[in-house]
Amino acid sequence: MSKTAAPKYDLLARLMHWLIVVLLIAQYAIAWTMPDIHRGTQPVGLIQWHLQFGTAIIAVMIVRLVWRLLRREPDVVDGTAFTRQAARFTHGILYLLLIVQPLMGWANASSRDWTVTLFGVIPLPPLSAAGSRLGHAMGDIHQIFAWGILGLVGVHVAAALYHHFMLRDGVLRRMA
Ligand code: HEM
Ligand code: HEM
Repeated sequence: MSKTAAPKYDLLARLMHWLIVVLLIAQYAIAWTMPDIHRGTQPVGLIQWHLQFGTAIIAVMIVRLVWRLLRREPDVVDGTAFTRQAARFTHGILYLLLIVQPLMGWANASSRDWTVTLFGVIPLPPLSAAGSRLGHAMGDIHQIFAWGILGLVGVHVAAALYHHFMLRDGVLRRMA
């Protein structure tokens, strides 16, 4: 039976979910087309866009996380204990990674002595010292985690589509 009346996430939660999807699509498109970054590269053009979109992602994710902690998830109507835990775990890791990932990029930018700003106007403090080895290492991990996030999102989207087309249980409509 199709459960069309499944309770939805509230409007702000839904808006922020889809805003992050759009920002991430833009962020990956920029990351994969921006010039290679070497010692002495300046943060201009697409690289500057990467920093701007990245800090916007942290800002939205922090608001989203606070909103999520303040409000309960809409009641779950179906599923086994295992699938509920799997969804909870995947969502939790996505929240965590989408905050940690931009912070690592920011730490790498600071180690390159770049000033990172929020929306191009509010200067943010450096997260690592210029020339720092830790900030350098963060850049390497940032590149690896970018693939990890893509993999998890793939699992997440596959699960959403499985609910919609195979189980037909209204889960996708909770976020639509
Ligand atoms: C969720 C947000 C982010 C995602 C998904 C992301 C994704 C990526 C990806 C895929 C690359 C590798 C590009 C390549 O293959 O050449 C990259 C590199 C980089 N990103 Fe991000 N990024 C994010 C946020 C940020 C932020 C907030 C900053 C800085 C404020 C940043 C700074 C950098 C830097 C400096 C590099 C080059 C690292 C190096 O070559 O060592 N990123 N990012
Ligand atoms: C960049 C891609 C995406 C990310 C990072 C992401 C992340 C998340 C997170 C963290 C949640 C948990 C929300 C919460 O409990 O506050 C969630 C829920 C959800 N997402 Fe996504 N999502 C992405 C793309 C998509 C896409 C493309 C779809 C649809 C095909 C989708 C469908 C859903 C649905 C239906 C839920 C609600 C699940 C439930 O009933 O609890 N997501 N997503």
